[in-house]
Amino acid sequence: MLEISENGRTWLLTGPASGYAVHLTEGDELLHLHWGPRIALADAEALAVRPLPVYRPFESPLDGREEYPVEGGPRFARPALSVRTEERRGTEWRFEAHEAEGDHLRLRFRDGGLVITLHYRMRHDVVERWVTLDNEGPAPLELLRADAATWTLPDREGWRLSQLHGRWAAESLLTAAPLTHGEKVIGSRRGHTGHQHLPWVALDTDATEERGEVYGCALGWSGSWRIAVAQLPDARVQITGGAGYDDSGLLLLAAGESYTTPVFAGLWSDGGFGGASRAWHAYQRAYVVPDADRDRPVLFNSWEATEFDISEEQQGALARRAAAIGVELFVVDDGWFGRRTSDRAGLGDWTPNPDRFPKGLAPLADHVHALGMQFGIWVEPEMVNPDSDLYRAHPDWVQYQPGRTRTEFRNQLVLNLAREDVQEYLWRQLDTLLSSAPIDYVKWDFNRCFTDAGWPGDPYPQRLWVDHVRALYALLDRLRAAHPDVVFESCSGGGGRIDLGIMSRTDQVWTSDNTDPLDRLAIQHGFSQIHPARVMAAWVTDSPNTQLNDRVSSLGFRFVSAMAGVLGVGGDLTQWTEEELAEAGDWVSLYKEIRPLVQHGDLHRLRPPTGGLSAVQYVRGDESVVLAWLQAQSYGEPVPALRLRGLDPTASYECLETGEIHRGAVLLHHGLDTALRGDLDAAVIRLRRI
Ligand code: DGJ
Repeated sequence: MLEISENGRTWLLTGPASGYAVHLTEGDELLHLHWGPRIALADAEALAVRPLPVYRPFESPLDGREEYPVEGGPRFARPALSVRTEERRGTEWRFEAHEAEGDHLRLRFRDGGLVITLHYRMRHDVVERWVTLDNEGPAPLELLRADAATWTLPDREGWRLSQLHGRWAAESLLTAAPLTHGEKVIGSRRGHTGHQHLPWVALDTDATEERGEVYGCALGWSGSWRIAVAQLPDARVQITGGAGYDDSGLLLLAAGESYTTPVFAGLWSDGGFGGASRAWHAYQRAYVVPDADRDRPVLFNSWEATEFDISEEQQGALARRAAAIGVELFVVDDGWFGRRTSDRAGLGDWTPNPDRFPKGLAPLADHVHALGMQFGIWVEPEMVNPDSDLYRAHPDWVQYQPGRTRTEFRNQLVLNLAREDVQEYLWRQLDTLLSSAPIDYVKWDFNRCFTDAGWPGDPYPQRLWVDHVRALYALLDRLRAAHPDVVFESCSGGGGRIDLGIMSRTDQVWTSDNTDPLDRLAIQHGFSQIHPARVMAAWVTDSPNTQLNDRVSSLGFRFVSAMAGVLGVGGDLTQWTEEELAEAGDWVSLYKEIRPLVQHGDLHRLRPPTGGLSAVQYVRGDESVVLAWLQAQSYGEPVPALRLRGLDPTASYECLETGEIHRGAVLLHHGLDTALRGDLDAAVIRLRRI
């Protein structure tokens, strides 16, 4: 709901539990008023008349109070907007108008030919914010920095910053530390979202998993990005974020051109970190992830089983075993196209390898369909190997700097997707591919960062950073429109491209190349802070885990770990014993039973994975399921009971595993025994209200 004061200078957005208010002063300064619990318009108006503090000339009363701090004038905080023309730098805006359309508020300002529109939209309790910049001319403008939003926190003591950091095979690890004066900057200067940080932060002063205020911000952008959390001299905290890492130029806007920032979404919750996560999940399922109410099938992926050494016959054999254990989607990973027999060749040539698939992909796809499964393939369209027909024909289609080495990571170069001819080539190749065989699913990978982001001949090569992402989004949108039944997974060497932007165009994400079931618990714990289990792909692979650490774990532990998200199987099924295949079949059918809860239910993190017992619980209607893992039992001590969440204390619940009847109040206040013992033990416990 959107309310506007009578004088048209105070705006209040209200969600189911929260409110957000801004105010325009007589001097056209747009001030932040409120972000927190619901308030009345009269409360916002009362806040609006509170005077700004009076500072001596070394501080600015605007710093820490403005909705979208521009560069210039009496401001010293990091600007969200920094603009340069040939004549001057900075912005001095005048307010023009507000426009309201349902719950979408637009505030329009002007500085000469530059029109700046701030957008606000309440979705559940998530405030979506973004900015459009229109250069009405006559002169060109250089956007040095154009953040999507700046978020302002209320005055409190002792802010703590939570973030998700990582690297390849160790993504989304949660860490928290007290905020101190100055700035904490996270981001990516790599051209993609990056494994190093998910574009999310959360701030609290004393929240727990179950209680307390949490402010969260998440950016929807799949290229380089930056979020800066600043504690200003008077201890006020602002969070500003947007596309691009530096202030060295995002785009050159010629007269008549526009730029729309990505969305930087913010969420206030007083339900602790658990409540905040559930609100983020509900928001993404309702407004971000395509077709989120549809179940994601159990998939098999060939990568760890066969890597580059693949053939039609061998994939068929894997498919038959996968079908027998209940897999619903069979995905041929890397190695099916061009001369891709290793990572040294083939990227860019998106036609089936004639030695491996002499009649194309259709015979295998048909076989997979005849087995009752959907068929999927892997692609990495934004890349090219120098040893490829594409590169031989178009060596100038890659990002490069003249006279400099073209840096190869994994023997590949990045295509310059900002070029229209490259966009058109990829569209034709992928459209033809998706039309050539009954393909239901595409795993879209991205396996190296930008290093030589040059574009010889273009007057403003800097735009490549933004235009690459725009072209990627446009290509995905076009493919989805032309092939509406095809489902896409975002992958970037595991979890290197996970953000709200890619999430709005893909159906699930590959969480990490780390498929070790124990490491995964921490990765999934971090991931779940912001993203729902409905998009979190997780595979059961072989034991020992030869890809990573040689850890030996039971099939049960591996399955229960992967069942916390979108279950997949990635082991070499031709090497699994009959007993293992039978057990796998049981786990897959159990997963299908609990899938609606996992993929669409409310997640409660019961205990974090810190060494001993950890557990998550999903609740949906009258049903609930607990997934519990015991990493190690120490000193022979009993394993603690798990206090459950989200149940009705006045109801009773039947445990489908044991047939026991439990009282809701007892489960909530005293807990449930898991019967876990020893090391790397795991359990699935289903409860149904009776
Ligand atoms: C990186 C991905 O994360 C893996 O799952 C696999 O698809 C390989 N790329 C294939 O090259």
